Amino acid sequence: MRFIGGKNLMLEHINEVIRENIGTVGSVVDIFSGSAIVSDNFKRQGMQVASNDFLYFCYVLARGTVGLNRKPPFRKLGIEDPIAYLNGLTREEAGIDLDDCFIYRNYSPNGDCNRMYFQNGNAIKIDVIRQTIEKWRTEGLIGDGGYYYLLAALINAVPYVANITGVYAAYLKFWDARTYNELKLEEPVIYSNRRRNQCFCVDYRRLLGREYDLLYADPPYNSREYLPNYHILETVARYDRPEIYGVTGMRSYEDQKSEFCRKNTVAGAFEQLVRDCRSRYILISYNNEGLLSQDALSEICERYSVPGSFKKYEYDYRRYKNKIPNDRAGLKEQLYILRRH
Ligand SMILES: C[S@@+](CC[C@H](N)C(=O)[O-])C[C@H]1O[C@@H](n2cnc3c(N)ncnc32)[C@H](O)[C@@H]1O
Repeated sequence: MRFIGGKNLMLEHINEVIRENIGTVGSVVDIFSGSAIVSDNFKRQGMQVASNDFLYFCYVLARGTVGLNRKPPFRKLGIEDPIAYLNGLTREEAGIDLDDCFIYRNYSPNGDCNRMYFQNGNAIKIDVIRQTIEKWRTEGLIGDGGYYYLLAALINAVPYVANITGVYAAYLKFWDARTYNELKLEEPVIYSNRRRNQCFCVDYRRLLGREYDLLYADPPYNSREYLPNYHILETVARYDRPEIYGVTGMRSYEDQKSEFCRKNTVAGAFEQLVRDCRSRYILISYNNEGLLSQDALSEICERYSVPGSFKKYEYDYRRYKNKIPNDRAGLKEQLYILRRH
């Protein structure tokens, strides 16, 4: 999934810096996993991975891919290809009332709602698929693996039919061509590293005390909180029918505000991260336009590292901006690596 601050273009650099400074890594924790692309990359390097994000849909993306080493068998369900089944399922067949369709009622233009996030048909499909996955789990027809595998497929499919320019903080006032496509789930790609990988959905501080070979931290770097930009994916993932407000139908997110997004808390947050980390190495992704200055971040890393172990790397990077990644001279993506003890 395309994700603000996603590190798709940085994976090779990340791997190279790890090879150069650490060599073989047995275990890693990715404490701000976002799209889970870096966790997946670590898994492909043979590391045992722990993945974490305090957004539930990010947890779902990790749990349904990184957390699995094979496609769930879906034996009890008795449906050979659940993805194809869900793609073809209608509301009538599923026996779901329109009044119970939360996404349809709140994010597609009908009745009292004039929000234009989805065409009506796709909004209903999201509701039908999401409710059916939940029902299968409640009835014991699928286990956790199958549940998160199917949810991850749904979360990945939604952006392809959403009437947005990349994030859900606003919808377009005309229908983008993409929205006329029918929502279609694809099989999540599962890679096996034959290790017991774990996924968490907690504040990163709860993981600092655990000992891994490497802690990878890719925190937000500016004041844009993640939840408002992805509120609909969070609601599809949780399907908790939250109270929503405003033009965009936002859910509240008091517990999901990040101290990395505020000028007056970001330095303390970085310091706590580096100071309280019990993993052997720390690798931080940041950039030269971050809320915390490079000098301040370097000083924190230097202060808590084994002498001589701290290094900083810098790369030209293409900025993610709405639909079009645009080259912005001057923006540098950075990696900070240090040995903690
Ligand atoms: C820059 S993004 C990570 C991008 C990810 N590396 C990728 O390539 O897709 C930062 C992530 O940190 C998460 N986050 C911010 N503050 C957090 C906190 N206190 N605890 C856990 N996750 C947090 C956000 O939800 C967001 O997904």
